[in-house]
This record gives sequence, C-alpha cells and structure tokens, in this order.
Amino acid sequence: MNAHYLNTILEYIKAKNPMHFKKLKKNIAFDNEQYVTRAEAFFGSYVESLERDGKDLPFALDCYLKVCNDVMFEQMRFAETGAYTSTSFDEVNQRVYNNPEVMSYYMHGLLVSQYLWEHHYRILEFFFNNMGRFTEQIRHVLEVGGGHGLYTNEVIAHLNADYHYTMVDISETSIEMSKTFVKSDKVDYILQDVYQYSTEKKFDFIIMGEVLEHVEDPLGLMKKLHSLGAENATAFITAPCNSPAIDHIYLFRNPEELKALYNEAGWEVALDLIASSESKKDVAIDDPLVPVMYAAFLKKK
Ligand SMILES: C[S@@+](CC[C@H](N)C(=O)[O-])C[C@H]1O[C@@H](n2cnc3c(N)ncnc32)[C@H](O)[C@@H]1O
Repeated sequence: MNAHYLNTILEYIKAKNPMHFKKLKKNIAFDNEQYVTRAEAFFGSYVESLERDGKDLPFALDCYLKVCNDVMFEQMRFAETGAYTSTSFDEVNQRVYNNPEVMSYYMHGLLVSQYLWEHHYRILEFFFNNMGRFTEQIRHVLEVGGGHGLYTNEVIAHLNADYHYTMVDISETSIEMSKTFVKSDKVDYILQDVYQYSTEKKFDFIIMGEVLEHVEDPLGLMKKLHSLGAENATAFITAPCNSPAIDHIYLFRNPEELKALYNEAGWEVALDLIASSESKKDVAIDDPLVPVMYAAFLKKK
C-alpha cells in the first residue's frame, strides 16, 4: 500500500517532536487500507492547494504541531480550573477569528488533524459512510463555519451538477483558505457572523462542523439553522464535549446535552456517533478529562 504522505509526515514529526511522534505512530492505522487510501488522496490534494498558495507540507505540519501544543496547554488549564480559558465571543473573535496569523496556523493545523487524530478521522469516516443516505435530491446547501473547506469538497462530490452551495464564516482567513482548498468555483462565500445572516432561501442540507462550542448561545444558533432549513431539511452537526481549545467558549459536558439542545431547537437525531479521543481505552464518555466528539445527522421535526 502506498503511504508516501503518511510516512513523510511521521518522519517530519519524529524530527520535530519525538513525543508526539510516538503517539501518532500508534494512532495511525497503516493496516486500514481504506484509511490509508483516503489519507493519501487527501494529503495529495492538500499539498497541491498549499503550493497554489505558496506554501508546503512542512508549513502545514508546523501549524499542526502548534495546534497540538495549544491544545495541551488548554487541557492543562482545563484540568486545573474545570473551565475553558475564554468565555466570550468578543474575546475569541479578536484573539482568533480576526487575527490572520493565529487563524491561519489554527485552520491548517485543524485540517491536518482530521486525518491524524483518531477521533477526528472517525467522525470524518462516519460522515463519508453515511452522507449518501442524506444528500439524495439535495440542491441547496448551507455550510456554517466551513473553516478550511474539507467538508465542502466532500459534500460537493456527492451532489448533482445543479447544486447551490453557500458558506458563511466569520473569519476572512477561513474564507480565503476555503477558496484555495475547495475544488468547486460554484460556492457562494459569505463573510459574516451566522447570527446576522439572513436570506429568503431555504436549505435542504445544512452542515456545521465544530462551531456550536464557539458561540455564547448554541440553542439560538440551532434555532436559527432550523429557520433556514427547508421542510424536511437535514443537518450534519459536530461538536466536542470537554474539549478545551483557544477559541472554545461554550462547555458541553456530554453528548446528552447536545441531543437535548437539538431537540429543543426543533431537530431530531436520525443517526449519530460519539468518538472519544481515548477510544482505545475504556473511559466514560462524560469523563471531564477526556474530550469526545459528537456527530449527528438531524432531521427537521
Ligand atoms: C473550528 S473551525 C471548524 C472548521 C470545520 N468546519 C471543521 O469541522 O473542522 C470553526 C469555524 O467557525 C467559524 N465561526 C466561528 N464562529 C462563527 C460565527 N458566529 N459565525 C460564522 N462563523 C463562525 C470560524 O471562523 C471557523 O472558521
């Protein structure tokens, strides 16, 4: 099996951060043919988009290692205080979304983590394996907080040619990165806070990966998405619990809280997955020291 990019990445990380290398080496599923094929295809097209932007793979891996350090620091603080370091939107808007230097390394690092962190990849795999069931006959798609554009490419690959795709993101850096990475020129990019976004359009499918924990009022946001959805709309939403990061402000303690919130906002869970960052160990999903991701396909009630 050709694992050129995965091996190159491991060699680079071994030289830069031997501790992290040891962890990754254990985590990367070289024996999973489907994973290796997907990861190699992803890194191939990512490297092409980096080069179009005058960057290269070592740049992206340095971003990734920086994100790993940030997360480690935030996790230590979280273990001490039981709270995220930031709690207001204004704070993270200024510190992260509106700060191109931070946002750039953060989005590149986060993108790389989708294929290197086991729980991130499990969510992606869940999405790949099931989205076909929910994207049939879909024309109007809304993505909120697309960030790097990974999900954008994957959704578009499943659509018929006559689709309309709108991405709303508050960060100019995210919009610019998506424009470079997304393979379609039919995406309508809107630089705006999703709470301010309004349109006459109704969307058949709404995707929002890792945004709910970035807002002060997640219930209000889920209700807003409900109002933007067409009758019978589907949504795919991911959000982490007990997962400190430089721009997380809303602390979800367990997936049950998220389910209740979706329900209250008028959505029902059609299919879901909980992916623990310690999935190989036998840990409780509401252990405050173990981040878990919760992903769900939702149907409008
Ligand atoms: C952690 S990234 C998620 C990227 C990608 N969707 C994923 O699942 O990996 C969060 C994205 O949401 C955007 N964002 C945060 N708050 C937002 C808001 N109020 N309105 C629109 N976009 C927002 C950020 O700029 C960033 O691009």
